[in-house]
Amino acid sequence: MSKEEQIIRVLITGAAGQVAYSLAGLIACGMAFGPKQPLILNLLDLPEKTGAMEGLRMELIDSACPLLRDVIATSDPVVAFQDISYAFLLGGERRRQIDMKRYDLIASNARIFKDQGLCLDAFARKDCKVVVLTEPSNTMCYICAEYAPSIPRENFTANARLDYNRAVGQIASKLKVSTANIRNMIIWGNHSDSMYPDCSVASVVINNKTQRVSEILGEEMIYFRTQLCESVVKRGAEIITARGLSSSWSAAKAVCDQMRDWITGTPQGIMVPMTVVSDGSYGTPKEIFFTFPVEIQRGRWSIVRGIKMDEVCRSKIDFSGKELMQEKMAAVAEIGEGNV
Ligand code: LMR
Repeated sequence: MSKEEQIIRVLITGAAGQVAYSLAGLIACGMAFGPKQPLILNLLDLPEKTGAMEGLRMELIDSACPLLRDVIATSDPVVAFQDISYAFLLGGERRRQIDMKRYDLIASNARIFKDQGLCLDAFARKDCKVVVLTEPSNTMCYICAEYAPSIPRENFTANARLDYNRAVGQIASKLKVSTANIRNMIIWGNHSDSMYPDCSVASVVINNKTQRVSEILGEEMIYFRTQLCESVVKRGAEIITARGLSSSWSAAKAVCDQMRDWITGTPQGIMVPMTVVSDGSYGTPKEIFFTFPVEIQRGRWSIVRGIKMDEVCRSKIDFSGKELMQEKMAAVAEIGEGNV
């Protein structure tokens, strides 16, 4: 019998919510940490939401997932954050109407992310890996990392995978291939209307041959590129209009995909988008959390350098950088402390 992996402790905040409902099942079935990794799930939400959280706990136990060794549902952050190796931060307000911008959520969510940063700092393992979904996610990730100085900045990421998955879904449907055949779709910037889904170097594998999407589409590429960009940018609002609620299942799948790639790595020559701390690459402001194409080896991401860009892409990156600086200042003002 092979030696069993050590049990890991994984936290989901906002555990009574819709995203958590989907994400907990994906994790319990091994979709984030692999089919051999046993785990304990810590679920955290507010005291008034313990009913829904307890329901999820019971369902997880009832699903008899072999990897799931325990489920702890609590409204006590000390219990929830204790010794965790991985955190999915989903708690806080979400957009409910399309006339709201993600930016408008700073007022409700900035303090929550200050507190979660403090809890990570005090109770989580120092190698804890964090994925933030709560909007505006780049800036909530910044705040959280800022208040957890004992955990390396590189261990904080925000959701970028949802926009990538949306784009990949659309390219695959246009070319009538499986999403598994699409490679190197890039997302730049902020998870806001300023993001730039960039398919200029995206490729597709057909009959074991890799071809650029631009080669296949030829003259149609310019139109397709504009259309793809618009539809990915507006997709979150489109879903709110259709469901009366923000995206849930696709958001859960996205953060799960992001964590899986972070742990297992990316194959040679394959990049995925991740929202990570900026080192100034591509002329972005240092220290904000920005979505870049990354490659991942042995649990460590690195920003892919040298991607050529046209003027549209350049100006979108510049705009996102400025927007993220404004978001950062608004969040700091909301917290009301001068030291962030
Ligand atoms: C999304 O893109 O679906 C999420 O960011 C939720 C939202 O507010 O649009």
